[in-house]
Amino acid sequence: MYKNQLILSTVKTFKEITIKLDSKLDNKGKLALKELNSFFNPRDFIVETNGSTLTVNLRALDFQQFSLIKNTVQADCGLETAPILNEIEKSIHNIKSYGIKSGKRLYVDYDSERKVKNRIAKEGRRGKHFYTLNHKFKDQNTELPEEFNNQIICSDSQDILQKLPNNCIDLVFTSPPYNFGLEYEGSDDDHNWDAYFKKLFRILDECIRVLKFGGRLIINVQPLFSDYIPSHHLISKHCIKRKLIWKGEVLWEKNNYNCKYTAWGSWKSPSSPYMKYTWEFIEIFCKGEMKKTGEKENIDISADEFKEWVVAKWSVAPERKMKKYDHPAMFPEALAERVLKLFSYKNDIILDPFNGAGTTTTVAAKLNRRFLGIDTSEQYCSTATERLKNN
Ligand SMILES: C[S@@+](CC[C@H](N)C(=O)[O-])C[C@H]1O[C@@H](n2cnc3c(N)ncnc32)[C@H](O)[C@@H]1O
Repeated sequence: MYKNQLILSTVKTFKEITIKLDSKLDNKGKLALKELNSFFNPRDFIVETNGSTLTVNLRALDFQQFSLIKNTVQADCGLETAPILNEIEKSIHNIKSYGIKSGKRLYVDYDSERKVKNRIAKEGRRGKHFYTLNHKFKDQNTELPEEFNNQIICSDSQDILQKLPNNCIDLVFTSPPYNFGLEYEGSDDDHNWDAYFKKLFRILDECIRVLKFGGRLIINVQPLFSDYIPSHHLISKHCIKRKLIWKGEVLWEKNNYNCKYTAWGSWKSPSSPYMKYTWEFIEIFCKGEMKKTGEKENIDISADEFKEWVVAKWSVAPERKMKKYDHPAMFPEALAERVLKLFSYKNDIILDPFNGAGTTTTVAAKLNRRFLGIDTSEQYCSTATERLKNN
């Protein structure tokens, strides 16, 4: 009924969308537009018409709320108004560039404060990720030997990873033991910090070696704040020393405000207040280059997921089934799903060298990735294997 022809232009106060109509707008259509407009501040959103075209003027909009209002207007004004209202909704939905502020999409001036003249030349002068200069990574990738493909292996991951060739893994996602003194089955979690980091870095070095050129090393870390050990900084420093590109950091907000820890340090005094945290960190590194190539048909992230997840503060509830899986320090499947969909393609090979109860491998299999999960505990490995059967 309506030509799907949109003319987009940005004016100073509004982003304009022009929708050409096939036929003149009837009275019901005009009424629907009037009612639609009445729900919004005209400085944020207003639709105008000269009868044969619609002009949607957009500055700021809560898109989900818009869809609800659209349904209300349609119910009030009659089903005949559905095509025109849907066309407006579709044309707004098709706009892929916007900022987000207080839950609303901003369509104009959302990046004005970031405008830097000659940005590329200035970046060149500064030297992006200068610390990776003269890295020695080879850009020839290899196949993972078949005996390691889609396997859960019970062993020390340092020993197993040594058996893998260079450049055969697309993505590592893991959370190392935190050295909190947790009761893991089969391994201690209360080492002297120096020994702990030496062992961890030996395993991470193996992970870096087996990563493909363009592969990603993604590490979920919870520092032991009460020991004043910034594990996320120390691990990042190590990866930077090994000339990986630091791609970024996700703040995983767990929202667990009722954390049991009740020490206040110095109560109501600046002498030494104790800080509390409801979040963990996810550090993201790339080997050799930032871009990861893959087939278009192997991308499985939706537009809405992409838009939400590139905002690097993820509000995801902690794993609730740790009792069921009898593991004290799991991350939730939702976290692994975000990491894998955002940073890997279907059919990629995913490694977790501290696989625990197998969250990474379970999600990798669900999302049609290949996987290798390693853990020292036989019990955790059999849980991980069971979870694969239930996929
Ligand atoms: C934080 S947990 C990982 C939990 C996992 N992300 C999950 O959701 O189930 C760390 C795991 O590392 C394992 N581990 C400790 N040292 C290891 C080593 N040298 N090689 C392999 N696994 C090890 C522990 O048994 C523990 O399950």
